[in-house]
Amino acid sequence: MIQKLEELKQNALRELDAIKELPALEQWRIRYLGRKSELTGMLRSLAELPLEERKTAGALGNRIKSELEAALRAHMDLKGTVTVVPPPALDITLPGRPYPAGRLHPITETVNEICDIFASMGFQIVESNDTELDYYNFEALNIPAEHPSRDNMSTFWIDYENDRGEKTMLLRTHTTCVSARVIETVKPPIRVIEPGHVFRYEATDATHLTMFNQIDGLAVDKGITMADLKGVFYEFARRFYGEDRRVRFRCDFFPFVEPGVEVAVECVVCHGSGCRLCGNSGWIEIAGAGMTHPKVLERGGIDPNVYTSFAFGIGADRIPMLRYGIDDIRLFFDSDLRFLKQF
Ligand code: DAH
Repeated sequence: MIQKLEELKQNALRELDAIKELPALEQWRIRYLGRKSELTGMLRSLAELPLEERKTAGALGNRIKSELEAALRAHMDLKGTVTVVPPPALDITLPGRPYPAGRLHPITETVNEICDIFASMGFQIVESNDTELDYYNFEALNIPAEHPSRDNMSTFWIDYENDRGEKTMLLRTHTTCVSARVIETVKPPIRVIEPGHVFRYEATDATHLTMFNQIDGLAVDKGITMADLKGVFYEFARRFYGEDRRVRFRCDFFPFVEPGVEVAVECVVCHGSGCRLCGNSGWIEIAGAGMTHPKVLERGGIDPNVYTSFAFGIGADRIPMLRYGIDDIRLFFDSDLRFLKQF
């Protein structure tokens, strides 16, 4: 053992002498002084030796260990013997790390874009609460209790009862209720556009959610006719979808307008010849509209013999769906950044 230790020391010192670079020095340290080194192994195995030999070998082993440690330190101190390889320098020419910036939701962007177009035509933007009174959501819009048109507008009722024990508050089913409030509070001439969330109590699927977005519009003035409504929609379609986009008006029923129409634009993909996106019809419905019912104006304190009015309600979620070819509305609200980052 003693002889082995001496040999080890000679070898180690000889090798150390030849070392010129820092990495090699580290390797040497691991090899001769590390936890798994031969020397450490030998010191550990001392216990197996007879007492006398253990004493001398132990003392020698420890001394060699100290000597090697001192030799290592001395070798490091010898300037010029060891070349220190510097760590890679900071490269200030590298581009900076990108900072993740947020962006607007595709539906918010669409709503803003639509509002901008109407604002440039003189419409003012009005917003109201998501919770609404039954009165403005239905009654004021010519939809009395038990009216069948309430059927497709079942909603969430707020757990609040008035003095007569009636539940009168709900989550609005359309933004048309904002028009009912505007008619009551603003003197004509009126030009307003009303974006907002609306709610329906219905099963969720690829085209239905319990919450979605609408943009209602209202114009009240002397001498307003259906031609104004059509003119405004032609202009909107031209600005939003591009020149020469045809717009179609067909009869429809909504209790708060008379006559009522459904507005469709020529399909963005096939330009009217029929494709999968438009269900082969060539047209895409974007809004309900019409001439505001005289009863609605009257109830709000506007004389229908003096003023006439047109109104419309645009479904705001369908528009980016059709624009980007998205076939499931739920994707918009899943908060999956991989989806949202594409817009
Ligand atoms: N409020 C209707 C709905 O949610 C849409 C609508 C139709 C709004 C005609 C209007 C309108 O202002 O004139 O189905």
